[in-house]
Amino acid sequence: MPGDKSISHRAALTAALADGTSSIRNFSTSADCTATLSCLAALGVAIEGDNTALAINGAGIDGLRESSGPLDCGNSGTTMRLLAGILAGQDFKSTLTGDESLSSRPMGRIIEPLQMMGARISSRDGRAPLVIHGHRKLNAISYELLVASAQVKSCILLAGLSTTGRTEVIENEITRDHTERILRSFGVQIETGDAEHKGKNARFAAVTGPARLSSHNVSIPGDISSAAYFIAAAALLPGSSLEVSDVGVNPTRVLFLEQLRALGLDVEITKMQEDSNEPVGEIRVRGSAGHNSSSPSDSPLMIRGLIIPQLIDELPLLAVVGSQIKGGIEIRNAAELRVKESDRIAATAQNLRALGAEVVEFDDGLRVGGEARLRGAKVDPRGDHRIAMAFTVAALLAEGETEITDSECVAVSFPEFFELLESVVER
Ligand code: S3P
Repeated sequence: MPGDKSISHRAALTAALADGTSSIRNFSTSADCTATLSCLAALGVAIEGDNTALAINGAGIDGLRESSGPLDCGNSGTTMRLLAGILAGQDFKSTLTGDESLSSRPMGRIIEPLQMMGARISSRDGRAPLVIHGHRKLNAISYELLVASAQVKSCILLAGLSTTGRTEVIENEITRDHTERILRSFGVQIETGDAEHKGKNARFAAVTGPARLSSHNVSIPGDISSAAYFIAAAALLPGSSLEVSDVGVNPTRVLFLEQLRALGLDVEITKMQEDSNEPVGEIRVRGSAGHNSSSPSDSPLMIRGLIIPQLIDELPLLAVVGSQIKGGIEIRNAAELRVKESDRIAATAQNLRALGAEVVEFDDGLRVGGEARLRGAKVDPRGDHRIAMAFTVAALLAEGETEITDSECVAVSFPEFFELLESVVER
């Protein structure tokens, strides 16, 4: 698998802030991570290498230079939200722009905490373009996340590096922890743990500024969110057998595999080890016919509550998988899906219906009827890479031909997707 997108963004950003040169191996080939690299280059960071093996000559925590033009984050929410945290603590003005999808996504969730830290930010009604008037004397804050978002958590922690004091983020739902892990690798003292907050179990992560980062060589594990499409397809196509090696199996990212197992599918993680402070393993899948979820026979498998943020990118794919399972699937508490690269609830419902599945849409999720006989149809991914890939899996399961319009949008996270799929699917 190509390198993990979330970890690649963070590796590039932390290497850019470090003192000294860091090398990065298996850097993501995604358009999103390329956007992060071009923004860093525009901020004066020297980056060398071909597309997956990079050497980044860090500018130091206060060494970035004002960009001569707007920083284009493309389709990438992670680029915009994490970079905003860094730029809030720099002594110059930056403008962050994005494509049409990114310009419609909510940025109030990072603007509010960054303003509490003392940054001046203007936006178009809480949306990009963002104009950030940064400065080096941000205030340290203690902040409880209002939206369960690793991007928001990471933005605040990165801004915390430029404060004088302890910046703490409290989360009531677990989100991916790659920022905490990579900051630790680059020598930042970061505290993490469980906390009781307002009588509830919560988690916290805290950094103390001013911090300095020392260069580090990072090896990026394969992207489990990209592997997910292959894993689901192999698990559902009888007679399949698939092994995915060197893939990231960070505990905050593998809940998708647990859900597949709860649906009676044959998926296991083997050969676990740590590399660059991230767990890496091999995933084995066997395809079989006749899947039963462990819930009572004709009620859907329910996916809801505190686990949703740890499955967020795989939910459209789980909806597709659910259409093949006895009892189907119901996903709730996932209103966040409506503000991803597309409205993923609407896009999933529309395309599943086009293929012949029964779908009920809710404000915060959907219910998909089980054991659907999917028939090939025209799928509109709405420019959203994860919808295009989830419905490629649906197309493999459907009778007849499916046409996915605008399928090149997969390049946002996984440019090699179709080529790699062709290499493992038997005709
Ligand atoms: C990401 C976090 C998630 C995820 C996105 C990548 C990250 O977003 O959907 O694809 O790298 O931090 P939120 O944390 O905003 O839910």
